Amino acid sequence: MVLNRGLFITFEGIDGSGKTLQLELLTANLEKAGLKYLLIREPGGTSISEQIRKILLDRKNIEMSAETELLLFAAARAQLVKQIVKPALAEKTIVISDRFFDSTTAYQGYGREMNVNFIQNLNDFAIQGLSPDLTFYFDVSVETALGRLKDRTEKSDRIDLESQNFMERTRSGYLKIAERNPDRVRVIDAERDPEEIFKDLKLQFDKILNLVK
Ligand SMILES: Nc1ncnc2c1ncn2[C@@H]1O[C@H](COP(=O)(O)OP(=O)(O)OP(=O)(O)O)[C@@H](O)[C@H]1O
Ligand SMILES: [Mg+2]
Repeated sequence: MVLNRGLFITFEGIDGSGKTLQLELLTANLEKAGLKYLLIREPGGTSISEQIRKILLDRKNIEMSAETELLLFAAARAQLVKQIVKPALAEKTIVISDRFFDSTTAYQGYGREMNVNFIQNLNDFAIQGLSPDLTFYFDVSVETALGRLKDRTEKSDRIDLESQNFMERTRSGYLKIAERNPDRVRVIDAERDPEEIFKDLKLQFDKILNLVK
């Protein structure tokens, strides 16, 4: 199979699972190989979506309801898909996103215990028919993730301040998503050293790259 558009790849996992670090390793590699790629992060990636991101992550917004949060994430994503992702894929660019719709299902659906079926319908509406070709889910225990985040220098955002139980529910949500989408979601054991994880990631990534060549 050869795709007549670029590849759309997403990275998922709880906070501190190591997504951003692996993304840095992967994009350095793509650059060396001279491949055309676009790196985006959710929520964000367009002027409107970045404005929504600020509202979502602002520690002052403690009064935000779970419903508002869900709709804002969906709104930021809808704008990103239409304005950036679809046009880039049409030009055969490899688009890699730090989080995408599985984050909404895992965090808002399983973490906040909102209606998962409704969230999946909302996700479908927001993505306008565009599903990732491949999703790497970085699986770590909550203990490991919290240990890594302790050493991080940036200030934590509103969502980082959630309880350990919330993180546990979110992680099991991710595992359910992976189980239900075995063709799309690859589970990566992210308890290992960064180099070992990257070797694994790179192997799987190179296999799928052949689809766009
Ligand atoms: N495999 C690893 N082993 C040990 N430490 C790691 C590993 N991967 C990442 N780290 C460190 O753990 C911290 C969190 O990693 P990173 O920022 O990549 O996670 P993240 O999944 O992007 O988190 P968030 O969802 O909050 O953005 C960083 O300080 C990073 O250097
Ligand atoms: Mg990150």
